[in-house]
Amino acid sequence: MRPRSDRYHSIVRALSLFASALTIIIATAHVEPAFGSVDSVTNIFRPLSQPAQEIKETSFLVLAICAVIFVVVAGLLVYAIVRFRHRPGDEASEPPQVYGSNQIETAWTVLPILIVFVLILVTSRTIADIQNRKPTTASVKSTVVGHQWWWEIRYPELGIVTANELHVPTSTEGNHQPTFLKLQSADVAHSFWVPQLAGKTDLIPNRENLMWIAPTEPGTYLGNCAEYCGMQHARMLLRVVVHTPQEFEQWVKEQQQPAVEEASASEGRKLFFANSCVSCHAIRGTSAKGVFGPDLTHLMSRQTLASGAALNSHDSLRAWIRDPQQVKVGCLMPNMQMSDKEVDQIVAYLETLR
Ligand code: CUA
Repeated sequence: MRPRSDRYHSIVRALSLFASALTIIIATAHVEPAFGSVDSVTNIFRPLSQPAQEIKETSFLVLAICAVIFVVVAGLLVYAIVRFRHRPGDEASEPPQVYGSNQIETAWTVLPILIVFVLILVTSRTIADIQNRKPTTASVKSTVVGHQWWWEIRYPELGIVTANELHVPTSTEGNHQPTFLKLQSADVAHSFWVPQLAGKTDLIPNRENLMWIAPTEPGTYLGNCAEYCGMQHARMLLRVVVHTPQEFEQWVKEQQQPAVEEASASEGRKLFFANSCVSCHAIRGTSAKGVFGPDLTHLMSRQTLASGAALNSHDSLRAWIRDPQQVKVGCLMPNMQMSDKEVDQIVAYLETLR
């Protein structure tokens, strides 16, 4: 048997572990929603869209049932430990031995079956409700393709191609306009997850998964790839920008424009088309038709570069073109070994792509 102080220490350690776990759970349940700010933590307990709301309600029911079970079991355990603990003079006697009690056995068989049955019913109802939703003519339809390590975002009906930022309208009682997503992968398995909008759905090679979101409040919602997909999985970040319906229409109009051609950036433009940039990137209205990397037609309208690895500023764009491997180690864009002057010209050209 271990000495008493040893046992005391392990109990204290276990208790402090439990306390820290509890603190983390309580703290994450109280962070503010992540829309509108890049730095805040996103939160599954503050859903602002239909599937996420339904999932939260179901999980709370499951948590509540589990909490009741925990309290009953832990209560009985504590009662047994205190009531039947070892007392001086107990050495010789044995506690009463109970063999075969039909009542007890029936109770602990029937009760769990009932509980599991309720959980199955509620869960399958929620899953069916979410999966059976069908797009209407009013809904926005988008195809999201996972790449190592960025998101290709297409709106086939609107003729828009962009990357890493999914733009959708709000969907309210009066103007129900959910967005339906077809999820595909160009290489390995990824997973689309924006915690405040919906649960996770995988993007699997050679297969198409469907999901939908119906956010109610405008703002920027942060998400990320939720399936390990290689070296830069952690920097495969995602943003969903939710607009009012009018703003969304405006965004669609802007994105539908072909790329502008400004005379001031003609040097950089020439350089872009002379280098191998065009074999990976497309710019609508030009001969650049690459599909391996993100479409750059309206690059400057996006908030981030390299799928959220850097904010889209002049300096980070320059650093990115200079040597992508410094910004995002292992990313599939190579260092083009350009001189400072060439980098400046390319950046000047890219900055006209508003
Ligand atoms: Cu894509 Cu992890």
